[in-house]
Amino acid sequence: MKRTILITGGAGFIGSHVLRLLVNKYPSTLFVNLDKLTYAGNLENLKDISKKENYSFEKGDINNAQFVNLLFEKYQFASVIHLAAESHVDRSITNPNEFIMTNIVGTTNLLNAAKKLWAGNYDGKKFYHISTDEVYGSLGKEGFFTENTPYDPRSPYSASKASSDHIVRAYFHTYKMPVVISNCSNNYGGNQFPEKLIPLVINNIKKNKPIPIYGKGDNIRDWLYVKDHAVAIETIFKKGKLGETYNIGGNNEWTNLELVKKLCQVMDIELGRKIGTSEKLITFVTDRAGHDMRYAIDASKIKQELGWQPSLTFEEGIVLTAKWYLENETWLENIVSGEYQNYYKKQYL
Ligand code: NAD
Ligand code: TYD
Repeated sequence: MKRTILITGGAGFIGSHVLRLLVNKYPSTLFVNLDKLTYAGNLENLKDISKKENYSFEKGDINNAQFVNLLFEKYQFASVIHLAAESHVDRSITNPNEFIMTNIVGTTNLLNAAKKLWAGNYDGKKFYHISTDEVYGSLGKEGFFTENTPYDPRSPYSASKASSDHIVRAYFHTYKMPVVISNCSNNYGGNQFPEKLIPLVINNIKKNKPIPIYGKGDNIRDWLYVKDHAVAIETIFKKGKLGETYNIGGNNEWTNLELVKKLCQVMDIELGRKIGTSEKLITFVTDRAGHDMRYAIDASKIKQELGWQPSLTFEEGIVLTAKWYLENETWLENIVSGEYQNYYKKQYL
């Protein structure tokens, strides 16, 4: 292998799509997946690439600095793509501490290990930190998040991601570390843990269970198909300028209620049910505490400077997504049995 790249959080939703893309496309690069396998990490997501010669898995916790340092020594990583995180806003509201540990302390451990290994020789090195648009806060009806929008995180999740972004930037300015950051909007697609809106709704429709919509369902999100995010990550990893931030978005805003209604129609068609059947499951429930009203990304920088834009329309992506969950019934059933039941009861019942 010519070089070795560390991917953290590769057993999660986005990380597994990034790994599948890179492992298949760059056979002479070794990709090491470091993942703790929390409730959100699932090696089933990677079963099609797990036997490839240029893929290797290391189970471990980024919060363990000693372990992280040993891993950097063992593999002599040339670069890092850092996706490992606690990622669900609702869980951050009930248990913020894990978010502070993994998202802030874990990220700092990785930066320290890279700094130590690279020891000022940054030629060909890159530390790529994957972040979220939620660091920018909440928009009203007008406007978009640009790379210059001041940070205004409002949930423990987004505050922990904002902190990690600041630390990554501090290592660029203080130690000249070769960093790049991207902030992406909401992703959807196969392999997403069904605590997040779209797979949760698909699972509930399948089982004829109520579809919980927080508040009035008028909050707005900008949705991007996960494989398009993976390509954006590849693009930024290869061509992104050091010290820069790139916003990634789908230019695809939906209120939660309209999005869920659309998904109900798609599911009715896929399940051969009469149109309108699934919509009857919609149930309005207590709003999320501090619920951000609107996220919307201005993705013109990555388009103009790096030539990336989404390849799929939402119409295409949402049908592919519904089909994926219906075709991967065992994957879904394994996840929603066991611990998920406890989470669901605490969150919704
Ligand atoms: P996910 O929750 O599906 O996966 C996270 C992965 O990180 C899991 O495999 C988990 O086991 C691993 N992990 C968690 N804590 C760890 C630890 N302490 N040590 C090692 N591994 C650990 O998350 P995702 O949706 O794939 O998100 C990936 C990244 O992208 C995150 O940094 C998230 O903030 C960011 N992001 C996500 C979205 C989205 O819509 N999902 C949007 C923008 C940015
Ligand atoms: P989510 O998928 O958790 O992503 P994020 O909070 O990071 O944007 O939620 C997307 C939107 O859907 C958000 O406005 C909250 C809302 N939502 C519901 O209305 N009901 C639900 O059961 C969930 C999980 C989310």
